[in-house]
Amino acid sequence: MHRILSGIRPTGDIHLGNYLGAVRNWVEMQHLSQQNLFCIVDLHALTTLQDTDNLADHTRTVAAAYIASGIDPNKSAIFAQSHVPYHAELGWILGCFAPLGWLNRMTQFKEKAGKHKELACLGLYAYPVLMAADILLYKASHVPVGEDQKQHLELARDLAGAFNHRFNSDLFPVPEPIIQGPATRVMSLRDGTSKMSKSDISEYSRINLMDTPDMIVQKIRKAKTDMEPLPETVEGLENRPEAQNLVNIFAAISGISAADICARFAGSNFAPFKQELADHLIEKIAPVGTQMRHLLKETSELDKVLAAGADVANKLAATHMVEIRSVIGLLQER
Ligand code: AMP
Ligand code: TRP
Repeated sequence: MHRILSGIRPTGDIHLGNYLGAVRNWVEMQHLSQQNLFCIVDLHALTTLQDTDNLADHTRTVAAAYIASGIDPNKSAIFAQSHVPYHAELGWILGCFAPLGWLNRMTQFKEKAGKHKELACLGLYAYPVLMAADILLYKASHVPVGEDQKQHLELARDLAGAFNHRFNSDLFPVPEPIIQGPATRVMSLRDGTSKMSKSDISEYSRINLMDTPDMIVQKIRKAKTDMEPLPETVEGLENRPEAQNLVNIFAAISGISAADICARFAGSNFAPFKQELADHLIEKIAPVGTQMRHLLKETSELDKVLAAGADVANKLAATHMVEIRSVIGLLQER
């Protein structure tokens, strides 16, 4: 069975990296698969949030972004992770089969915990196990994500294999990561060596899906570049991270190849290139933002979509949990 699952953390404004690296691919894939589950992973958001004041609003905003980008609630279940309590249950169970050695290798934990590892919370450390639970709970076959999630997906695959082996079963299909497209890793507009991220303190580091056309123009105009003109070929972008990133974004949003973009702007300074890039972004992103604002005015409609999605997810998860408990040997409830 071809079943897709993926998710985004409701930790702030959803940005161009989330769109190009994840959601846009989901939109394309949703019609090719038998079942799609797109989750707003609010329990994951708790691992890094300082305060939870905006968590519910952000959860609705991510749901609105999914729908406005083209995820069809009639074709795909859209739901909040916390509305399906089985995620946490399976997270605990898988945690009992996850060797610390595997978790110690996770680079995202090291980055996020920073220098003061002993102050980091258990949830941040266990994050990849909960993510594996999100996937295995539904026996998802395919998981479309951005490049930064590759290591977490490897862990989910290893855990599925370890669990199957331990219980001599084939309960969990080993999920296939789908990391594809021209923008699997969109970089910050202020620093071509760090990832575009919701947590960057500079608003100018990212384009948010709800940015107005004016904001998009401003941010692209201010995007960092170098002193060289644009090169004739893609090879000329090597060791020029900011130029490389802007060309990648241009290619991903316009559908024009990076080689054709270089050929077209070869020898020119960045001004005309940036102008055209902003135009492409406005054409593709601004309508998504407009639709999101529209959806967010009708929160009761959004909540209905989330309730329907949670219903589908809970039913599927409940049947799988019965199988999982039984394979492990937990006493079944009568
Ligand atoms: P997050 O915002 O970390 O919850 O990420 C949600 C999804 O967006 C995941 O599939 C990520 O891999 C993807 N993603 C996040 N940031 C980027 C980025 N800068 N470039 C490409 N994909 C990204
Ligand atoms: N860890 C992912 C991120 O930070 C979000 C996520 C949580 C996820 N659970 C998932 C992605 C399950 C795909 C499948 O981007």
